[in-house]
Amino acid sequence: KGLKLYDPGYLNTAPVRSAISYIDGDEGILRYRGYPIEELAEKSTFTEVSYLIMYGSLPSESQLAEWEFAISQHSAVPQGILDIIQSMPHDAHPMGVLVNAMSALSVFHPDANPALRGLDIYDSKQIRDKQITRVIGKITTIAAAVYLRMAGRPPVLPSNHLSYTENFLYMLDSLVLTFNPISTVHTFSGNRSYKPNPRLTRVLDIIFILHAEHEMNCSTSAVRHLASSGVDVYTAIAGAVGALYGPLHGGANEAVLKMLSEIGTVQNIPEFIEGVKARKRKLSGFGHRVYKNYDPRAKVLRKLAEEVFSIVGRDPLIEVAVALEKVALSDEYFIKRKLYPNVDFYSGLIYRAMGFPPEYFTVLFAIPRMAGYLAHWRESLDDPDTKILRPQQLYLLYITCFTGKWFTLG
Ligand code: CMC
Repeated sequence: KGLKLYDPGYLNTAPVRSAISYIDGDEGILRYRGYPIEELAEKSTFTEVSYLIMYGSLPSESQLAEWEFAISQHSAVPQGILDIIQSMPHDAHPMGVLVNAMSALSVFHPDANPALRGLDIYDSKQIRDKQITRVIGKITTIAAAVYLRMAGRPPVLPSNHLSYTENFLYMLDSLVLTFNPISTVHTFSGNRSYKPNPRLTRVLDIIFILHAEHEMNCSTSAVRHLASSGVDVYTAIAGAVGALYGPLHGGANEAVLKMLSEIGTVQNIPEFIEGVKARKRKLSGFGHRVYKNYDPRAKVLRKLAEEVFSIVGRDPLIEVAVALEKVALSDEYFIKRKLYPNVDFYSGLIYRAMGFPPEYFTVLFAIPRMAGYLAHWRESLDDPDTKILRPQQLYLLYITCFTGKWFTLG
């Protein structure tokens, strides 16, 4: 009793156990429920993978049909939530708007709130599954409404006749052109017959697979943390989306694009790298708490970027990204610290080529990550060891005026 291990950032503490995903950070391996991420990216769809993450095995044909049907049945969003999205300032950051919309779901679905209906409501498999398909069904409609608001346009109703990712792009319609600096593929349709490019749809579906789950990252552990208090799943997820917003986490994809634009040309890279080494700033999209090798998702994304450029035209910033990676990977500073490109390094270039504005990139990360959040929420409900998460602190009596250092007495 009384032994407290000081572990800032939880480098050595595992407050939960999980069978959902596995990472070998030294070897650059990521598996969802035992399946290598590369295999899933090549052979599966996002809805199959989200089922796998949630329930532990890939769905049969009938299970998939049932899963996709349930998701699409839940894709409509209460008008009140669309009104909240519309009422936000036009230049509000999309992630800020998304946090609000997700937390509003809690108010609009009191039937799923243990604070109102008792802690045991989530014992029911039916009630849990309903929340799961609700969130996965609604997130694309909410994300599309967030996007449309940026352009001053009203939300669009989802279509039940399209695949998950196709429906999402369909709801965005012509906006994909509005923000696209390089694409010649998307044209303004101005009506509901818009059909997203099937190859770009598949690329986005693969990106969704790559982002669906990543064990105890900052936002997923936020879900576990909040849910451990017994709060409803929507509030827990809203908290997680807040964590994802940060530039050290999901917000890094936006930061990468801004960084590449600032660097501008390959000639400016050496000066930029010197600034990073002098600790003036970080190299966004590089480094990871767990990966001390190339992030396997970044490898798939690098290839996908070429696929997208072959459709929409080559983004000149890719040359800056490739050269920046090469310089960093051969520099002693990065080698010594085992800093490699992570999932956010190349994703922004793909999003930009598809026409998304940088502020929206993290929303594209949040959509598929709902699967991971919900799987961890579900797993935590089933684990008899689950307790309210309540870390210890080391109490220090500190004096900073003379030494600037922390110390303890007694
Ligand atoms: N640029 C420059 N130096 C870095 C970077 C970077 N991107 N990442 C880590 N370092 C240095 C850091 O300064 C430290 O150096 P020293 O030991 O001399 O003080 C050393 O490497 C270890 O870094 P750390 O900050 O202790 O590592 P961490 O595990 O606490 O942080 C990280 C991990 C992802 C927050 C960090 O690498 C980072 O800030 N990267 C840039 C932001 C980013 O790309 N985030 C996305 C992460 S992956 C997807 C996701 O989670 O959303």
